[in-house]
Amino acid sequence: MDNNKTLALLGLQWGDEGKGKIIDYLAQKFDVIARYQGGPNAGHTVYWQDFHFAFHQVPSGILNPKTVCIIGRGCVVDLGVLKEELEQLTQAEIDFKNRLFIDSKAHLILPYHKALDNAREKAKGKDKIGTTIRGIGPCYEDKYSRIGIRFGDLQDDEVFLEKLKRNLAQKNFLLMELHNDEPLSEKQIGKEFIKYAEFFKDMIIDGSDYINTAYEQGKKILFEGAQGTLLDIDSGTYPFVTSSSPTAGGVCNGIGIGPTRIDDLIGVAKAYTTRVGMGPFPTELFDDTGLMLQKQGSEFGATTGRARRCGWFDAPLVRYTARINGIKQLALTKLDVLDRFENIYIGIGYRYKDEKTNNFNVELTGELKPEFLKMEGWRCSTKTAKSFDDLPKPARKYLDKIQELTNCEISILSIGEQRDQTIISPNFKW
Ligand code: IMP
Repeated sequence: MDNNKTLALLGLQWGDEGKGKIIDYLAQKFDVIARYQGGPNAGHTVYWQDFHFAFHQVPSGILNPKTVCIIGRGCVVDLGVLKEELEQLTQAEIDFKNRLFIDSKAHLILPYHKALDNAREKAKGKDKIGTTIRGIGPCYEDKYSRIGIRFGDLQDDEVFLEKLKRNLAQKNFLLMELHNDEPLSEKQIGKEFIKYAEFFKDMIIDGSDYINTAYEQGKKILFEGAQGTLLDIDSGTYPFVTSSSPTAGGVCNGIGIGPTRIDDLIGVAKAYTTRVGMGPFPTELFDDTGLMLQKQGSEFGATTGRARRCGWFDAPLVRYTARINGIKQLALTKLDVLDRFENIYIGIGYRYKDEKTNNFNVELTGELKPEFLKMEGWRCSTKTAKSFDDLPKPARKYLDKIQELTNCEISILSIGEQRDQTIISPNFKW
């Protein structure tokens, strides 16, 4: 482990696992942090001094002054959102100059992507996905249709404007004819993006070259995932997923590195489960306990403000997501949210029709009825614990059960928003 140079960190549930806090904590140990997929649909919450940041585009390591942050080629970028985030950093006197770079191959989210995301969700009515309306799906669609506009295209105004013209003609047709919406102005978008080109011109890099060179120089690199494995376009609860690959498999293409350069992996999971948007969720609670989890855990989306659906920890689900990512170690977050519960339940299996099964099955998620193991709550604060031994016995039992049922070791435990409310296992070598 001591020779390891790279660590991939990703979500094992439906996103919002608390990755931002863990990345911020780990940032001091890394020279480079690179995001490999997703866009401003993400909301990584980080508390720092008196500030509370919700990073949508900027990698969560930006608060560490020595860390270089990269937005990788697998990401989609809304330059307007990014500019606002940079303004917030400037206000907090955080210098990001020569520390934040964007891969020239990352695709740009244009206003028509957002307009189409919105129009399509509206048209779907009750069958909507519940997207963040940030234009994610339509932008990735253009990428795969090979008509997308990439960050590098902004280096030449003419190239950019030509691509914009061609795309907007199609998109306006769809907006007007299919969705009865207003067309968007080519002139206005062109003007806006030419300004962005000037603002962001020093941030363009070949991310793959940068990261491979850093690797060869022995630098420590963290690959930051957004969303979570069950929102993965291939392995998630399709069609209620996002349009990228938050899984370990997404790292290689999203950064431009080979699989032999992913030295270590850690999966982030919450001590219970949440989901935003539509789609199946076996251990979801519809009663006061669910509301209590929502309230105690402040479970409201960092991007859209939507209330998150809440339920108990689903062990077979995390065993499934850990397995498909090849993950053996967990960062378990928000244990302290469970401090007040008299009893705590863990989903240990399901009933599917009349049969019992211990395995999560992503295709059948909507039909799985959870079976729970009841555990004793600890009813005292865990927020000031400094080691696993400081935790009350029922909490330690809860963690042991999670480890046993997920086949993973808990390497990091988060018991509060602040950096120092983090317990690290001696086995975690970073
Ligand atoms: P989209 O990524 O905006 O297209 O949304 C697709 C689905 O993923 C919706 O259910 C969203 O609520 C969900 N989603 C997207 N990003 C996040 C995230 O960062 N955390 C949690 N859910 C997300």
